[in-house]
Amino acid sequence: MTATAHGARILVVDDERPLLTALVTALESMGYEVIGELKQSDGLSRIISWQPDAAIFDLNMPGMNGVELTAKALEIMPDLPIILLTGFGSIDSSVQAMRTGAYDYLTKPFDLNSIDFTLKKALDHHDQKRRFRLLAEATGRIGEFAGIVGQSPAITKVLDSVHAVADTESTVLITGESGTGKEVIAHAIHTGGSRREKPFITVDCATIPDTLIESELFGHAKGAFTGAHKDRAGHVEAAADGTVFLDEIGEIPLGMQKKLLRFLEERTFVRVGETRRREAHARIVAATNRDLLHEVQVGRFREDLYYRLKVIEIPIPPLRERSEDVLPLVEWYLSRLNRKLNRNISGISATAMKLLTNYQWPGNIRELVNLLEQVMTFHNPEILDVKHLPGTLQALASTLPSQTFSELKEQVLEEAGRNYFQSLLNHFHGNITKVADYSGINRRHIHRLLLEWGINPALFRNN
Ligand SMILES: Nc1ncnc2c1ncn2[C@@H]1O[C@H](COP(=O)(O)OP(=O)(O)OP(=O)(O)O)[C@@H](O)[C@H]1O
Ligand SMILES: [Mg+2]
Repeated sequence: MTATAHGARILVVDDERPLLTALVTALESMGYEVIGELKQSDGLSRIISWQPDAAIFDLNMPGMNGVELTAKALEIMPDLPIILLTGFGSIDSSVQAMRTGAYDYLTKPFDLNSIDFTLKKALDHHDQKRRFRLLAEATGRIGEFAGIVGQSPAITKVLDSVHAVADTESTVLITGESGTGKEVIAHAIHTGGSRREKPFITVDCATIPDTLIESELFGHAKGAFTGAHKDRAGHVEAAADGTVFLDEIGEIPLGMQKKLLRFLEERTFVRVGETRRREAHARIVAATNRDLLHEVQVGRFREDLYYRLKVIEIPIPPLRERSEDVLPLVEWYLSRLNRKLNRNISGISATAMKLLTNYQWPGNIRELVNLLEQVMTFHNPEILDVKHLPGTLQALASTLPSQTFSELKEQVLEEAGRNYFQSLLNHFHGNITKVADYSGINRRHIHRLLLEWGINPALFRNN
């Protein structure tokens, strides 16, 4: 968590001047940069001209109320975190406001600490959203490659290759363990070049029966075999100037391999049941998670086809060899799954992240996505922590070699600190000023720690 009050721009819209002035002054004293507006329309103009980092709207205003104002503001700045101030008893409208996309609401009378806390949370959330966007832009740097996350030299090299081959005719072989992203990369090769508007046809060689694969690929004449009721074009023709993706090419039967080789070399083929040679110009991208050289050695794969395919090979390294990518992948999928599963997890603890980075990921990125989806189906914490991860991963914690003494000390101190502040909050009913006075620790610092630990002081208020 990274939010700080310093310099963050906060727009406040409230039609009651005394309240507005009080709030603006208080927020300024906390280190925010603040503009207050009495009129809704002026507030909206400020959003355009001043680009605030967060906004606070009063819910009950004559004319356009806070809910309508929220909707308008989000049209202008979809990422803007908005906090609504609601009078006691107007919970229904605050629920409605949350549905229009407000970030949170506070019920009056509220203390300034809770405003500060909520604002920091909102800013952090905003920050995270912006980071996701930047990440998406960075990974989408080759234009259409959005959806491929990673910053490691290894994935950058893969993307460079994709870029280099996208606009060529060459056949490409993508190799890599299961779940490394072979299909994603095949798509990127297609959409990264001038074929992007043309068909992309996937042929899963592992699931199509041997007897059918030839007619699937090259088509057949009416009556060529039982069930062939009419002439039918195969995928290489249907794809026209697009791409045919031969997934799991290692599974293609030997007889078919020869025909495929000829197609790759001459761009000609014969439909099953015909004798006439036809031409087609679809681009072939193939993928395999098998060791094709081994398949050649044991006689299951033609050597000539192997070398033909291997001319342009894009190997995708397993995730454990590019562990720098685990963090951006986790952040990316947290954000996507938050939306998909209607969760609002804002981050992951350092210890949990360390476990994920050190894990071997035999199922690679697919395993990571599945794991997050599983965890997020059952949990919705503010911060994802070790205790939310599956037992097998938690067990890994004890085997991690790299916890140095100083890291251990830090962890113990953090736990002690957390307990200490929790008991103080309990004692002072969530009043941060009192906690600060008592502990002699700066209030802002306490806020930052609580935010980091995911502790909401408001929860201690009625103790
Ligand atoms: N670089 C990446 N960034 C984000 N998501 C990725 C990335 N690579 C793969 N994924 C995701 O991981 C999952 C597996 O990817 P994909 O199906 O392309 O793997 P694969 O290598 O074809 O696996 P298999 O060999 O099992 O068919 C998909 O959900 C995909 O969206
Ligand atoms: Mg695949």
